[in-house]
Amino acid sequence: MKRDKFKHQVWLECATCGHRTPFVQPLKACEQCGGEWLDARYDYDDVRERWPAVLRERPFDMWRYRELLPLRDDAHRVTMGEGGTPLLHATNLGLMLGCPHIYIKDERQGPTGSFKDRQASLAISVMKEHNVTEAVVASTGNVAISYSAYSALAGIKMWAFLTSLVPSEKMREVALYGSEVIKVTATYDQTKKVAAEFATRKGLCIDRGIRGISAREAMKTVAFEIAEQLPMLIGPGDTPWRTPDWYFQAVSGGMGPVGVWKAYEELMTLGLVDRMPKLACIQVAGCAPMVHSFNKGLEKAEPVLNPQTLVITIATGNPGPAYSFLAQVIQKHGGAFEAVTDEETFRAMHVMAKLDGISMEPAAATAFAGLFKLLSKGVIRRDEVIVVNCSGHTFPVEKHLLGDEWARTVEVPTETPAVEEGLLGSLGQINGRVQTIAIIEDDPKATLLLRRILQTRGEHRIFEARDGATGLELVRRERPDIILLDLMMPGMDGFEVLEALKADERVSDVPVIVITAKELTAAERERLSGQIETLMQKGSFTDEELLEEIMKQAV
Ligand SMILES: Cc1ncc(COP(=O)(O)O)c(C=O)c1O
Ligand SMILES: [Zn+2]
Repeated sequence: MKRDKFKHQVWLECATCGHRTPFVQPLKACEQCGGEWLDARYDYDDVRERWPAVLRERPFDMWRYRELLPLRDDAHRVTMGEGGTPLLHATNLGLMLGCPHIYIKDERQGPTGSFKDRQASLAISVMKEHNVTEAVVASTGNVAISYSAYSALAGIKMWAFLTSLVPSEKMREVALYGSEVIKVTATYDQTKKVAAEFATRKGLCIDRGIRGISAREAMKTVAFEIAEQLPMLIGPGDTPWRTPDWYFQAVSGGMGPVGVWKAYEELMTLGLVDRMPKLACIQVAGCAPMVHSFNKGLEKAEPVLNPQTLVITIATGNPGPAYSFLAQVIQKHGGAFEAVTDEETFRAMHVMAKLDGISMEPAAATAFAGLFKLLSKGVIRRDEVIVVNCSGHTFPVEKHLLGDEWARTVEVPTETPAVEEGLLGSLGQINGRVQTIAIIEDDPKATLLLRRILQTRGEHRIFEARDGATGLELVRRERPDIILLDLMMPGMDGFEVLEALKADERVSDVPVIVITAKELTAAERERLSGQIETLMQKGSFTDEELLEEIMKQAV
């Protein structure tokens, strides 16, 4: 049967005024009212018709739901097999607690071990779709790890701003993927401000967390999968897919539960499920702004200025708009906000490992501790179907592998942590000379590799040209510090570019590194001799060797 070519229509809809606009590029705010909460909307009639046939043929990964994801063109997908994680039955825990239907959404099996891989895959794909080559992210650890891995694959340079409270194994994993690690000696909320100011000053794209659409849209896929997996575990219901009674997650910025809620709304629209789940948002007692604000009946979250917990991954003091959204949902539809102590978290971590062989990171254990607490309070009935989101440990990165200079520190004055001047003034601490590099290369894959290698060390402004004539123009305009030049290009080839460069006294002294796949004849070598710094053969040099050559030119 001949199938239609994939057409993808996405709109952005303002939650405040309902204004709709086609999704062409990520917008910061509604064009009509300035509202910051924009939701992606799709052609649900089309999806309803299309899904039964297409889903049957697709692999079980996050992209099987791509009709409900905001990437416009599949060619920009940056993927490492994220999503499609197992839904495990917690049998021993269930027996102990008298709950036959506890299921674990095993996000430990994502490419970097957390459910943030879904977010990273979509967010980095959308960045690639909009030609972003350098970006900024602020994180309590897992988001930076995940974004760093995916941006390596996509050839995007990532500046990761981490609060200095983040465990060093997480920081080292970020560095391992080649991101610039900026340790900010402040809370996560202050770190976000420093990162935002840095992005503004450098004119870089910054990940907007819950305010961006990628995070929420990607998190929907956790819920789509659970709904599709549940009938196989608990049997068929009245609808093709099923909703659990409870979705449990440790919550910090709130992207997970907000995305999960939206997913079930969409599945209701599609007729695949017939009810919504109750959301259980669990926080650690030392940083539980959502729990306290909900208990006080507040519409807006009251921030925690000084988080006191060892579970840094979820230590967001100011949850922003996610709280207002989740508080409304839980008020109206049931669900719970609950706080547990660090001790309860670590106990739950141990229990899960001993009982069901599931070793998880502290933030995930917080959700399990919350489950134990809500069961003992009688908020949850023991026969209800419960799904808990579970992430895994960060993998250890040997210190010696990274050398000494894998992170830079931005000191924020401790006496006046809330003073903006102090925060933003500290940005001057990130310095270093920026080298400008022109890449003249017709093969986009080779360019991406060169760019990626450069992005992993120091700061470079990278210009790219796909052919000789454009390259020459680029060099004359930008006067780069170094030129990386390919020889075999259609039209004006590398030899001709080199001759033109050397004949132009304004740029004749810019060092040129030739990178070529061509086996050179003696005559060709002669043509290059004295004109270039180095000749590097494609496929036979390492990233280190290239960086060394470039560094030599810098002195
Ligand atoms: C393991 C883990 N659990 C929970 C969270 C909280 O996620 P959110 O509140 O954004 O849904 C995070 C955030 O990084 C996390 O890494
Ligand atoms: Zn609006």
